Order: sequence, then structure tokens, then C-alpha cells
Amino acid sequence: MTAPHRWSEETLARARDLIARYPERRSALMPLLYLAMAEEGHLTEAGMETVAELLGITPAQVLSVASFYTMYKREPVGRYLISCCTSISCHLLGSDELLAAIEDEAGVPAGETDPDRLITVESVECIGACGGAPAVQVNYETVEGVDPEAGRELVRWLRKARPEVIVADELQTLFGGRTGFDWAIPDDEGAVGPYPAFGPLGTAGRES
Ligand code: FES
Repeated sequence: MTAPHRWSEETLARARDLIARYPERRSALMPLLYLAMAEEGHLTEAGMETVAELLGITPAQVLSVASFYTMYKREPVGRYLISCCTSISCHLLGSDELLAAIEDEAGVPAGETDPDRLITVESVECIGACGGAPAVQVNYETVEGVDPEAGRELVRWLRKARPEVIVADELQTLFGGRTGFDWAIPDDEGAVGPYPAFGPLGTAGRES
């Protein structure tokens, strides 16, 4: 079994903080899997063994959860993960054309990463933004009402600007169209990597 010292001290401290929030250590499994992804870019065998050791469970138990959820990536992904919804609402409003435009501009088919390890494209099931279909996420930050040309612009922008933080509101302003409804609450925090921007796991302000 791999020793936990493979992780940085900062990540281990965050892991201990997360574990302390739960009455049972094993309940911290899912957030620790995100920490493992943040530490190494994706879930490695060593990362999952570290999670198992920290939680006092077996690597097989960790893998049984990690392999069930598509958002836990066990293969390397790019710095920017573009997830294009192709479920029914988005499909009816042009997601096939949108995905094709994103794939073409990124130079990779869905499910693959470009050679620079900058952009991964994937096709996903409903991301809960059906009212603003077709919807796309970059590092799980959502933008609604995206047409194929805006999808291309989004890829070009990621390549050129290489933003440190991906913020949904900024994506919507730059590349979005019709939204499902107005959330009315400005959001200046976003994702710092290809994993969701949960508070203890990687949220940052736009200026940070
Ligand atoms: S069908 Fe695409 S967000 Fe729901």
C-alpha cells in the first residue's frame, strides 16, 4: 500500500480537515477523491490507495465508488474539461452540431484530450440546465444557450487566455445565449482545475 506522504502537506491537511467533519471517517471518501484528483490531475492507483489508507478502508472499496461516478477521472484530463450535454433538451436544440464544432475546434473527438494536455472534450448526460439548452460546462462551470460558433470561440478563448479560474458568470457573458432563468446572485468564484469548485476542494475568486 502506498504511504500518504505521496500527497503534499497542504493536501494532507485538507484531507484531515475534511475527515474531521464526519462522524465516520469513511464518509469523507467522495471529497477525498476530489482532493486526490486535484493533487495528481486524475485518480491514480497510488492516489486511491492513499485515500484508502487515510480512511481505513480497502483500495477495492475506494475503487468501487471511484469507478461508479463519471466525474471521477481515472485517466489524465486536460487543464480544461469541456463537457457538452447531449441529453434530450440539448439534443433537440442543436447539441450535436455544438459538440461537433467544439470537437473540430479543439482537434479531438469527445472522450479525448489534445496533445498539449490543455483541453479534454466529453459528451455528458443532462447537467441540469435544460431550460437554457444547449448547455456546456468548462471544469463543471455551466454556460447556457451556446451555439456552435460560440462553442468554437470558447475553445479559442481557453487556448489563448488560459484563465486560472473558470467562472460560470464570465462564461455566460462571453459565450452564452438564452438562459433558463436568472439566478440573480452574482457568482465571482469558480473552478481552479478540471474538478468541481466546492469550497474545500478548489474554489477561487476570479482575481486570485
Ligand atoms: S438536457 Fe442538457 S442540460 Fe438537461
